[in-house]
Amino acid sequence: MNFDLSKGGISKFEEALSEYFDRKALLTPSGRVGLKLILKAYGIRKRDKVLLSSFNASSVVKVVEEVATPVFIEVDERTMNVVPKDIEREEGKALIVLHTEGNPCYMKKIKKIAEEKGFLLVEDCAHALGSSIHGKKTGTFGDAAILSFGMGKMINTAGGGAVLVEDESVGKKIRKELRRYPKPSLFNTFFKYLKNNAFHVMSKRTVFSTFVGPFLRFGDILSLLFEDRGIKPMLMHDLQGNAGVLQLERLEGKIEARRRKARKIMKGLEEFFPKYIGKPNFHNLCFFSGDKEPFRKHMLSYGIDVQKTWLKGYSDTARKLSESVCYLPIHEGVNEEDVKKMKEAIQDYTGNLG
Ligand SMILES: Cc1ncc(COP(=O)(O)O)c(C=O)c1O
Repeated sequence: MNFDLSKGGISKFEEALSEYFDRKALLTPSGRVGLKLILKAYGIRKRDKVLLSSFNASSVVKVVEEVATPVFIEVDERTMNVVPKDIEREEGKALIVLHTEGNPCYMKKIKKIAEEKGFLLVEDCAHALGSSIHGKKTGTFGDAAILSFGMGKMINTAGGGAVLVEDESVGKKIRKELRRYPKPSLFNTFFKYLKNNAFHVMSKRTVFSTFVGPFLRFGDILSLLFEDRGIKPMLMHDLQGNAGVLQLERLEGKIEARRRKARKIMKGLEEFFPKYIGKPNFHNLCFFSGDKEPFRKHMLSYGIDVQKTWLKGYSDTARKLSESVCYLPIHEGVNEEDVKKMKEAIQDYTGNLG
């Protein structure tokens, strides 16, 4: 995130997103708030059934529980995404599809089912900014979509999100609702920004190997430190909007670099990785470890910080995924040598598994 306080950051970022997706984009305090606003704008009420992926973020499930009645759809163990056939069997008002960790869902099939069943189709693109399938960007298939700009997302503006809407009148309704949210002070935004940058400093090679990595053996202190607990949702600040514009300009290059690293790591080890379809952004490169903790310890012994998935399982297959999926680091701070070392460490681990 660069530090650019010039005015108009919010509208510039909204315009840039609208152009990128060719859809109306509105910035929201977070992805969660965006989802709530979409469901409300479409008149979804508590007794309405809303279908969603059973391998999901607990924060999303919480929103759906608050607004409607969730119905969990089984996921495929290889793509981690909802199984279209299982959607066909259900009734409900809306369907929220998650492009899990940036891996696109089969949207042609899903859109057809949604149309036949009369579901409102919402795409959860919190992970999938920059992914595409059938030559079209994820986020542009449904009636609406959400994006998230929190820590660890493809665009990180230290919090915030966006909704993409096809119907401009829905956009107007959401815009009106957004006026109820407070504007953040510069101090408040600056604090978020500091926290965000502290995380980046901690992930620098020397800082991580000396001060952070050794302590991670005792527990996941980072997620304890950086989880946003009970923070009141506020609109985004121009500072965040300006940062978003810059990051959107660099998005394609960032994704290409991730794709190259992911391909190298996965080569010859495909059975331990998801079946990636379309053009995923590799928001996280997922690894099926079988059991997260021993794999994480093994990788730490090579100096590699592997994150355990924080997605939760709400079905049998999803619970298994939740126990197994780990995220391999392929961000900008990871160089060719790290990729080689990571591959060796995985080969060593999977060899022992075999
Ligand atoms: C799949 C998914 N959807 C939605 C969200 C919510 O995004 P936000 O944190 O911006 O509310 C998250 C958060 O990480 C997520 O993982």
